[in-house]
Amino acid sequence: GASAGSAAEPLFVLDSPNVVYTDAEIRSKYTYRTSKVKNGANGGYIVMPHETAYEFKVERKVPRTGLMMVGLGGNNGSTVTAGILANRQGLTWETREGQQSANYYGSLTMGSTMKLGTDAETLRDVNIPFRDVLPMVHPNDLVIGGWDISKLNLAAAMDRAKVLEPCLKHLIRKEMAQMVPLPSPYYPDFIAANQEDRADNVLPGSKACMEHVERLRKDIRDFKAANDLEKVIVLWTANTERFADILEGVNDTADNLLKAIEAGHEEVSPSTVFAVACILEKTPFINGSPQNTFVPGVIDLAEKHDSYIGGDDFKSGQTKMKSALVDFLINAGIKLTSIASYNHLGNNDGKNLSSQKQFRSKEISKSNVVDDMVEANSVLYAPGEHPDHTVVIKYMPAVGDNKRAMDEYYAEIFMGGHQTIFISNVCEDSLLASPLIIDLVLITEMMTRIQWKTESSTGEATKEFKNFHSVLSVLSYMLKAPLTPPGAPVINSLAKQRAALTNIFRACVGLEPESDMTLEHKLY
Ligand code: NAI
Repeated sequence: GASAGSAAEPLFVLDSPNVVYTDAEIRSKYTYRTSKVKNGANGGYIVMPHETAYEFKVERKVPRTGLMMVGLGGNNGSTVTAGILANRQGLTWETREGQQSANYYGSLTMGSTMKLGTDAETLRDVNIPFRDVLPMVHPNDLVIGGWDISKLNLAAAMDRAKVLEPCLKHLIRKEMAQMVPLPSPYYPDFIAANQEDRADNVLPGSKACMEHVERLRKDIRDFKAANDLEKVIVLWTANTERFADILEGVNDTADNLLKAIEAGHEEVSPSTVFAVACILEKTPFINGSPQNTFVPGVIDLAEKHDSYIGGDDFKSGQTKMKSALVDFLINAGIKLTSIASYNHLGNNDGKNLSSQKQFRSKEISKSNVVDDMVEANSVLYAPGEHPDHTVVIKYMPAVGDNKRAMDEYYAEIFMGGHQTIFISNVCEDSLLASPLIIDLVLITEMMTRIQWKTESSTGEATKEFKNFHSVLSVLSYMLKAPLTPPGAPVINSLAKQRAALTNIFRACVGLEPESDMTLEHKLY
């Protein structure tokens, strides 16, 4: 029904003593089964099954939520805003191919399903929308605002972006024109010099300072109050910055970072200032660009304030294909030996990336995405052995937002043969990134309402419910260079990232992880 998935009436309930629904909460007792491995004799292993009993608690009330984007007037910012307005109003418009209606294609939350179980009588799979597993915010209900160093209103910004169809723009122009980005910190050294001509909406001062931190905190509070919001999520979709140097005494610890901001140190980027402001304001902050916003001092600060952060760099086109394809090749036992990745794009992102230091941030983010899959296969690769991997990005104004990504995958197959796969991928960049922004926001918000405790007798038991770690690595599926808690491994395999996300959501409602064994169809 219309209220399916709301707190009052979930789409399904689990008929099990391990799961309890109250008006306010879902409580689930869940046994997490893993294997602990020790080295045995003669290079072998000894494996010990291990169980941890967890209890998860999910707050059922869906809060009134705001999304504040940094870079609101950019291609992504204006496109995702227009898309949400169009969906909220249920718009249909004319295109040269016929009528087009608003949708959320490309969003895992809004566009994909997961298996609930098998029908008790027919044994057929029963699948439900991902968004109905837990009580999530609906994107149509997000209140949107944010900052940009360019003061164009969003109607003018969507024209500048050249992404959306004229008939759609016509239908939302009035509402878009009323949205004007807040002024933002602009430290010219961090983004390309070619961005300077659009920087007409900036806060006074050209390096980090506490006034900027306090101003951004106030912006968040004011936005919350003006729109009667219970929660705000802030997301960076502004230009790619250069990397910040990690300096001892400057950005290595929370205290040093705060002191450095106070002292106006020039190695603190605008994105780091935003992250600090959000952490102090207990507002989740997600970084959609590749730069190292999350210097060690930021991670330390987030942990100290028990505030959520997630990043880095949206994984929309070329890298998403790469993390699926490399997963497939290596898990098929095929030895991938090189990847050559070329891009050309003509939007403002491409213009910014035509500058060497900003390109370098993107190159780093795009380069490490196969490491874990290679390392996991000691049959194909010796320790330290790697496929060759090169990434090239060129600015080509004519193609606009329709980025071209061309990839050659070269692999060694049976008996010294070779397989060469060539992929040509036209990525309508902002239309791929916008649904990822929505997923990042919805899942982050959901994670703020999930808590856990352990019940095992192994000394790991906790009395009070605790939050997930400040670094939300569960967002990895949407991100090219997933940030993980200090010391935790990075998982790039797209299939594993999705499994982690769905299985954690399942655990919260007492559903077993999806094993795909389907024994009911194999053991008649
Ligand atoms: P864009 O250049 O159209 O938009 C960025 C906006 O940020 C501009 O309007 C600019 O004025 C604003 N800006 C720059 N510095 C700012 C600051 N200090 N404070 C506030 N606003 C600031 O770029 P687009 O295409 O929207 O991409 C945004 C970011 O997302 C880029 O870093 C890009 O690398 C990243 N990204 C995009 C993907 C995609 O579009 N498919 C995929 C992966 C990452």
